[in-house]
Amino acid sequence: MKTWALFLFFLVPCVEAELCYNGGTFDGTKCICDEDLYYGPQCEFLVQETLNGTVTTSITSSALSGEISTSPTHPAGTRTTPHPTIPISTTSTAFTTTTSQLCYNGGIFEGTKCICDKDLYYGPKCEFLQDEISVTELSVTITVEARVRVTNREFKKSLEDLNSSYSREIHAQFKKQMKVVYGGVPGYRDVEILRMRNGSIIVEHKIISQVLIWNNEEIIPHIMEIITEAVIHALKNIHTEGECIEPSGPELCFVSLPNSILNANYSLNDTCKNISGVKYAEYYYPHITNGTVRCVSRCFSGIQDSINCFNGVCRVSEIGPHCICDNLDMFWYLNNYCQFPIQKIVLGLSLALAVFFVISIILVICLIEAKHKSKAKRKKSRKSWSDNADCDKMGQRNPVFPE
Ligand SMILES: *[C@@H]1O[C@H](CO)[C@@H](O)[C@H](O)[C@H]1NC(C)=O
Ligand SMILES: *[C@@H]1O[C@H](CO)[C@@H](O)[C@H](O)[C@H]1NC(C)=O
Ligand SMILES: *[C@@H]1O[C@H](CO)[C@@H](O)[C@H](O)[C@H]1NC(C)=O
Ligand SMILES: *[C@@H]1O[C@H](CO)[C@@H](O)[C@H](O)[C@H]1NC(C)=O
Ligand SMILES: *[C@@H]1O[C@H](CO)[C@@H](O)[C@H](O)[C@H]1NC(C)=O
Ligand SMILES: *[C@@H]1O[C@H](CO)[C@@H](O)[C@H](O)[C@H]1NC(C)=O
Ligand SMILES: *[C@@H]1O[C@H](CO)[C@@H](O)[C@H](O)[C@H]1NC(C)=O
Repeated sequence: MKTWALFLFFLVPCVEAELCYNGGTFDGTKCICDEDLYYGPQCEFLVQETLNGTVTTSITSSALSGEISTSPTHPAGTRTTPHPTIPISTTSTAFTTTTSQLCYNGGIFEGTKCICDKDLYYGPKCEFLQDEISVTELSVTITVEARVRVTNREFKKSLEDLNSSYSREIHAQFKKQMKVVYGGVPGYRDVEILRMRNGSIIVEHKIISQVLIWNNEEIIPHIMEIITEAVIHALKNIHTEGECIEPSGPELCFVSLPNSILNANYSLNDTCKNISGVKYAEYYYPHITNGTVRCVSRCFSGIQDSINCFNGVCRVSEIGPHCICDNLDMFWYLNNYCQFPIQKIVLGLSLALAVFFVISIILVICLIEAKHKSKAKRKKSRKSWSDNADCDKMGQRNPVFPE
């Protein structure tokens, strides 16, 4: 049994390496596919990107079939589980002749290479995104937290839960009236109730404004000040108590409170949403260097959660930031960050050594036993030679069984 466990242990990497289809290489934890053509955990799917090129036949996933076919890089018979694969032969001719003319992301093919939009993309096919993208405009979300008193509603316990029906009723009405009250606040978008307190009701809420400014971080505090001032101004004029003709009606009656502003803050979280299409937006976030905001990906070094690709390079593509490891033809890596390279030759060698070692041990055991037997045989010369044949059956030997 131990022999088999040992065998399996060494065999596992070999088996897994066979689990990438269509020429994908296994890097230790996942398959690295030829991204231009294939994707999926085992590179089993064809990229269906609409490419700007000369491909006329669109290849769809209906080309996937249940049959077991062997992709070019894998010798037949190594796979044990049937897997749907792409019948390559039917499509490869159409593809390989045109592959060189394909450019991603709006790149233009010019004779021999793709001309990319350099501010955003690079790579032989414009398939990679720059780690750092400059922006000219910032989309700044400014939130001001404030409070106001509503005089014509009774405070009930149910207002502590903002999801209660009474809360939601007040919320809806509050939003409606605040749209008018805060109409003069630059970039006003919305208002959200944060909590409600007893007295009659003190409504703490958040005013959300969004403004576009030139890329200069230093302006932001100034913009925040302007917006806070506008909120203070709006709340100063909110006294509707006397004008609440019908206090029991649907309209809320307001009275301003001293210290109406609780807090103000800003966020640039929308700034990088626009840079290179919705598709890539989530891979970028704002990073401020020397007062200028840039949209960076996790491939950008020098930020808190940048990716460290130990023996490789970091690239942003359609699948997001990831490491592309060096010398995949010679090494396996134990993780996605190209760490712990294992030379394929060494691995093969250690496997061979392990097998050799195991066989040697078995042989040594056999020899020792044979020696014992021959000693015994010399003592009882009548004993037949056939007992020594045990070593021929070493695979089936099981000492636990009572004879
Ligand atoms: C493809 O590239 C050509 C320029 O070579 C351009 O005129 C055309 O608009 C592009 N088509 C698409 C779908 O991007
Ligand atoms: C709200 O405050 C008033 C007066 O301070 C009190 O009588 C009432 O019980 C309070 N209501 C709740 C729900 O705590
Ligand atoms: C709020 O209540 C509705 C139903 O009344 C429920 O569907 C929703 O999940 C609740 N939301 C939260 C955040 O509790
Ligand atoms: C302002 O926002 C930042 C994150 O955007 C947060 O860390 C900080 O605590 C906020 N400040 C206040 C006063 O809410
Ligand atoms: C940006 O931040 C504001 C305030 O925190 C929030 O309301 C808004 O949903 C955020 N936008 C995105 C895209 O996360
Ligand atoms: C995206 O850019 C367009 C103009 O280029 C602008 O009108 C829009 O407000 C921007 N959206 C965001 C979320 O920044
Ligand atoms: C930021 O400013 C410092 C000096 O003030 C300079 O050394 C550095 O190169 C600047 N960085 C960028 C990205 O401009």
